[in-house]
Amino acid sequence: MNSRFLQACRRKPVDTTPVWFMRQAGRYMPEYRAIRQKYSLLEICYQPELAAEVTLQPVHAFGVDAAILFADILLPAIPLGVGLEFAKGEGPVLRNPVRTMEDVQALRPVEAETDLGYVMEAIRILRGELKDIPLIGFCGAPFTVASYIIEAGSSREFLNTKRMMYSAPDVFHALMVRLSDVLADYLMAQIRAGAQVVQVFDSWVGALSPSDYETFVLPYSQKVLTSAKNAGVPVIHFGTNTTTLLPLMRRAGGDVIGLDWRIPLDVGWTVLGDDIAVQGNLDPVALFAPLPELKARVQDVLFRANGRPGHIFNLGHGLLQHTPVDNVKAVVDMVHEYGCVRAAAA
Ligand code: CP3
Repeated sequence: MNSRFLQACRRKPVDTTPVWFMRQAGRYMPEYRAIRQKYSLLEICYQPELAAEVTLQPVHAFGVDAAILFADILLPAIPLGVGLEFAKGEGPVLRNPVRTMEDVQALRPVEAETDLGYVMEAIRILRGELKDIPLIGFCGAPFTVASYIIEAGSSREFLNTKRMMYSAPDVFHALMVRLSDVLADYLMAQIRAGAQVVQVFDSWVGALSPSDYETFVLPYSQKVLTSAKNAGVPVIHFGTNTTTLLPLMRRAGGDVIGLDWRIPLDVGWTVLGDDIAVQGNLDPVALFAPLPELKARVQDVLFRANGRPGHIFNLGHGLLQHTPVDNVKAVVDMVHEYGCVRAAAA
């Protein structure tokens, strides 16, 4: 397969800039809401036919250059035994958060191939249906998954997570060892099932200082990223609020590094170095702006990429719930129309 998305991941020339969106399947789409009226989020994930159908919705609706498997970064937490639920309107909630060494030791053994077999089945179905559009598999990075497991859900301050780092580092490290093993195994199983690219989501890592990142996160992210790389597929390493962490994220690994909108794309790319691909970085809220403003912002991202090989257009974070569907389609068309334009020509 020679898609422009795979080419860009490898910093090869493309006919125009590839584009896909994090959270491209979701509640802003009427087709997704219709399925969610009948099934919960977990029910969709557990039924491979349904997960595959939802994965394909944005591919059919918008002509994006990649499909991302419909799943959730917290699925591996289920066989670990932490009691995950998605409470209505509240996001993820865990009944048995991890706070002590005994809690870490009580985590159950996980075999991704069987315990998360429904994910692999969805991947196999999708590979049969997606002809020339590559399929992205994914997992959460150890830190971001650990933060949910320690906080018992979403968090703003990461108080329990950072308190554990600072007052019981042995417990935190023990949890990260377990999670990086499980997540590396999960990503490898997805690659064996047919994922052609994988993304590691470290969505909340920007809560940390560079030195805490280096001590508490880097070795564990590196383990997950390196095992996927050794399997021979391109690896995307994503985080938000990472302006001061980019050199360390690069050291941790990934063929492509995700940038959010807080740093201009060209500035972030310079910090990372020209010999790596980048993904990003439109502000998700730009899709709520009037079309001329949206277009100017899409063009600004493309202008900063300056036609260099190795740019994948995306948002700086996921599509938001009430995003106007027409603007999602408009962005895909704009990127394809104006993509890969060198600064001089733009
Ligand atoms: O289209 C895609 O990108 C694939 C599907 C996908 C989902 N979650 C489905 C989902 C992906 C890649 C994720 C990743 C994920 N899940 C992350 C990392 C990416 C990010 O956005 O930072 C995180 C932190 C989670 C954990 C999670 N899952 C939260 C915090 C929530 C609640 C958020 C909310 O808006 O309610 C979820 C639920 C979830 N996962 C939804 C979707 C489409 C929305 C819930 C629904 O349909 O009820």
